[in-house]
Amino acid sequence: MTQHDVLIIGSGAAGLTAALVLAERCKVLVLAKGALDGGSTNWAQGGIAAVLDEGDTFENHIRDTMIAGAGLNRRETVEFVVEHAPQAIHRLEALGVPFNAEQGSLHLTREGGHSHRRIVHVDDATGAAVQKALLKAANDHPNVTLLPGHACIDLITGRHEAARYSGSGRVWGVYALDESTGKVEAYTARATILATGGAGRVYQFSTAPRGATGDGIAMAWRAGARVSNMEMMQFHPTCLYNLEVKNFLITEAVRGEGGRLINPRTAKRFMEFYDPERLELAPRDVVARAIDSEIKKFGLDFVHLDISHMPADFVRGHFPNIYERLLGLGIDMTRQPIPVVPAQHYTCGGILIDLAGRTDLPGLYAAGECTESGLHGANRLASNSLLECFVFGDAAARDILARWDSFDAPPEVRPWDESRVTEADEEVVIKQNWTEIRRFMWNYVGIVRTNKRLERAAHRIKLLFDEVNDYYGHFRVSTDLIELRNLLQSAELIVRSARARHESRGLHYNLDTPQTDAEPHDTILVP
Ligand code: FAD
Ligand code: SIN
Repeated sequence: MTQHDVLIIGSGAAGLTAALVLAERCKVLVLAKGALDGGSTNWAQGGIAAVLDEGDTFENHIRDTMIAGAGLNRRETVEFVVEHAPQAIHRLEALGVPFNAEQGSLHLTREGGHSHRRIVHVDDATGAAVQKALLKAANDHPNVTLLPGHACIDLITGRHEAARYSGSGRVWGVYALDESTGKVEAYTARATILATGGAGRVYQFSTAPRGATGDGIAMAWRAGARVSNMEMMQFHPTCLYNLEVKNFLITEAVRGEGGRLINPRTAKRFMEFYDPERLELAPRDVVARAIDSEIKKFGLDFVHLDISHMPADFVRGHFPNIYERLLGLGIDMTRQPIPVVPAQHYTCGGILIDLAGRTDLPGLYAAGECTESGLHGANRLASNSLLECFVFGDAAARDILARWDSFDAPPEVRPWDESRVTEADEEVVIKQNWTEIRRFMWNYVGIVRTNKRLERAAHRIKLLFDEVNDYYGHFRVSTDLIELRNLLQSAELIVRSARARHESRGLHYNLDTPQTDAEPHDTILVP
């Protein structure tokens, strides 16, 4: 058993932000499965939203966030995040993030749903620059220990205490698999923060990295925490359509800087039929549904995103990484349109938290994409999610420090029990089930849903639960098995939430219930 002051699961924007604040006063252990830069943070392109221009106001950013979120946002959270945004950007600048600047001010780009230019960025690869700066600061800090290659399996609660079975929901840490030795160890702490990212890989097509399997959401749920609004899965309108490169995002900023969506069959700009005022800069759910509709109506494989009417230097200057990547695939975006399709992109729902990042369980905090803080509502506004990671990573860490004296030292806990399991005999079971979940989630629980499709998905999930639980009960854990179990749990929560919402709102669009209720309400699931 290894004991620390605070345990953080996840080394992306949320986890490392919290680690750096906590490290001022205590010893922190950060666990991550795979590589330290393996989460979504490293992949973020467009940037971070913040009111930094004199012509812009907090109220504008709040309004844009709530319009995109179709009114389901909690205003208190939106205000909290928007008002802390400039401070978050200044902290990142102090860590050395080289944001693009013009004539002494930060360059602000524009994205869908934003009424003003307010996205700070590092070219078209903002996330990689942020991840690098946070990792460097964490690495350099004597109070932070970074432990990659450790896949967390389940939270340790009262029922794992060695001396007695307290049955309490108090969280004392986590059991984690060392991916290099195959050994499982207990890591305990006075407080634990989940910063495990989203569950995007539950879908066949997703811009999210391989490890986005909803682990934190599933672990918190199994330990007894409520989750909220899991049906609100965001689909990004413009993922590259390419048979070899499956999940390369074409940033929304391409549309922000003038890119147009064209139906390749009719050669017509089609957003004017769906949202004549906002066109390509309508919120994501609107644009993704419009593309989905064109693809289905005309039997297309993709639509075109075209920015070739802008000067070539401008395009290369704004999107150097995307330009190079596409050129390597034979597409010159300064002269040709880019074939694009929608793909899952962001998990708006998650572990229910308050403004201090507290979950329902004593000793357990959560921050970032694994949470439902009330910021995004029924649809996340572009570039609000890195921002949420910085604001809530900071808030959770400060709350832990403020309440430090109330956190007891963890008790002795029982070691991981492997006495009743053997080596896995048929790895194919994992691959088969993983593929099956992702396919039916895409087909039945995607951009457009129906009651029948949701019912079919629920039925498949029920059957798979028996099979996966049986496998988990008999065989030694591996990262693949941990992820499959969590992926299935996430799928179950998404489908259950979708079936509980009897209206269409934001990202949840059901042909059988197309109306929007007068009063917005969260879908809160209780374990
Ligand atoms: P992540 O950065 O995903 O990190 C999760 C961490 O948890 C990782 O370290 C992972 O290893 C660890 N982890 C997960 N499960 C376990 C486990 N079982 N055991 C141990 N460790 C575990 N948002 C914006 O605001 N602006 C953008 O421009 C933008 N562009 C994006 C582009 C792409 C392609 C994608 C996929 C997302 C983009 N987003 C953007 C969304 C944003 O990147 C994410 O929401 C954000 O980075 C999530 O950060 P996080 O810290 O919550 O989690
Ligand atoms: C993008 O660059 O389009 C992604 C921005 C985001 O997900 O917020």
